[in-house]
Amino acid sequence: MRAVSANLLALLFLCTCASVLYVWSRLERYNTGLQITSRGSAHIGPSPDLSAKTFRALLAVPGAQRLHLGGILDAHNLTGVADQTGSLGIRDYHMNVDNKGSARRGVPDKLGSPVEGIFWSEWLEDKFPVSFSEEHARAWRGRARGHRIVRLEPGCGRISNQLATFSDRSKACVRYGINADQVQGETLTYYLASLLGITNLPPLILAQLNVDSEQWASVRRRIGGLQWSERAVVSLTQWVANLTGVITPAPLRQESKGLRPLRWELGNKTTAELLELMQWTDLIILDYLSANFDRLVSNLFSLQWDSRVMERETNNLLRTPRGDLVFIDNEAGLVHGYRVLDMWEKYHSTVLDSVCVFRKRTVQRVIELHRRRDTRTRLLELYRDSEPLSPELGFLSDEHAGVLQSRINRLYKHILHCKVKYHQLGV
Ligand SMILES: Nc1ncnc2c1ncn2[C@@H]1O[C@H](COP(=O)(O)OP(=O)(O)OP(=O)(O)O)[C@@H](O)[C@H]1O
Ligand SMILES: *[C@@H]1O[C@H](CO)[C@@H](O)[C@H](O)[C@H]1NC(C)=O
Ligand SMILES: *[C@@H]1O[C@H](CO)[C@@H](O)[C@H](O)[C@H]1NC(C)=O
Ligand SMILES: *[C@@H]1O[C@H](CO)[C@@H](O)[C@H](O)[C@H]1NC(C)=O
Ligand SMILES: [Mg+2]
Repeated sequence: MRAVSANLLALLFLCTCASVLYVWSRLERYNTGLQITSRGSAHIGPSPDLSAKTFRALLAVPGAQRLHLGGILDAHNLTGVADQTGSLGIRDYHMNVDNKGSARRGVPDKLGSPVEGIFWSEWLEDKFPVSFSEEHARAWRGRARGHRIVRLEPGCGRISNQLATFSDRSKACVRYGINADQVQGETLTYYLASLLGITNLPPLILAQLNVDSEQWASVRRRIGGLQWSERAVVSLTQWVANLTGVITPAPLRQESKGLRPLRWELGNKTTAELLELMQWTDLIILDYLSANFDRLVSNLFSLQWDSRVMERETNNLLRTPRGDLVFIDNEAGLVHGYRVLDMWEKYHSTVLDSVCVFRKRTVQRVIELHRRRDTRTRLLELYRDSEPLSPELGFLSDEHAGVLQSRINRLYKHILHCKVKYHQLGV
């Protein structure tokens, strides 16, 4: 009896330590940069060794097994996948902006298999919602740059984020980063998504605080109260009405066997469920590439002491009334996420490895980025061409650009692995 209580106590103690460390690690991202004075492109010290070690010691839990692809990959090359996707003929990404599929959502669909090989079927692609099309984003960015901000108020999370109202009454969330990493992470993740054709992120612009400028003059007093420093570069993202929380779907939870391209597993899902799962597969690709732990991965981590975490809403993910997922708050991506990779990589891998169904169009872009090895160049070009303040905010360090390319390669191998694994099944 005594031994049991001692064990329980020890377990309780471990859980408490882990919780404290977890909370601390999330807070840490707001602190690491306090000593930064230069622009974000400079590489700022590594994550504290101590925390990484403590984490690893605490995290000796099973379940995070990684797939060992081994020699099977060497025996194959991309051509097979490339042929499969390359011959599709990419239709205009924005053709279904008006969401012709929405009327049918919620109704089980008899149109056929939800998957073709490892890809979501074309009939589902035809119904796939384009949340924020490129045209929409471009128009929004133009409008947001051209209007004064007439009000700042709470409504976008923690106090450093403010709900801004423009002179045309449209709204945006202004995110003030305590350090440049956060704003860079948010901004570059937005452009990475754009490069991948993922349209679930609200349009974003950068702005430089200057209370003497027309843009900010009307909220001068409010800015003083917020203690935002002059000349800081902030991000503004389109505010979206009527968003609600999202719970991780069953196939992506730890206890499931993952999201597999098996007709008998997916066959009885409604079209609405399938369309949501499709968006999740893009989310997992984006979060893997950007090493954003602040959504699914942090839940997986919390499972160690909070077995019901998956039944709660996922961080930084919302849903519109018509079922489009909105990926908000991407500031942990690409910069901070890469700095603390040691701590999180095992979880990133577990999440990625749990998915073997993808959107063809997303995979096609991954294949291109893998083949050309030019992710850095493409991302930088898109960012420079779209964002006038890009020189002020800076770009990924060479080291982090290398990490991004290697994650593209790892993702590519995972996709190839899925193709090999499920090909023989004739699914
Ligand atoms: N673009 C948006 N449109 C509508 N509401 C938004 C938007 N961005 C943020 N919000 C609202 O603000 C909340 C917090 O957003 P966000 O995650 O960006 O801030 P945060 O400070 O990180 O908050 P938390 O710590 O709770 O994650 C969201 O749950 C949502 O209610
Ligand atoms: C890849 O496979 C295709 C056909 O399967 C073959 O023609 C091509 O030579 C292979 N490329 C390499 C680099 O192995
Ligand atoms: C949001 O919900 C309100 C109340 O239900 C509704 O009047 C409004 O039209 C909705 N707005 C959008 C953009 O869906
Ligand atoms: C779908 O099928 C799975 C097993 O294949 C079953 O567990 C699940 O309950 C079914 N769902 C519905 C809505 O029928
Ligand atoms: Mg958040």
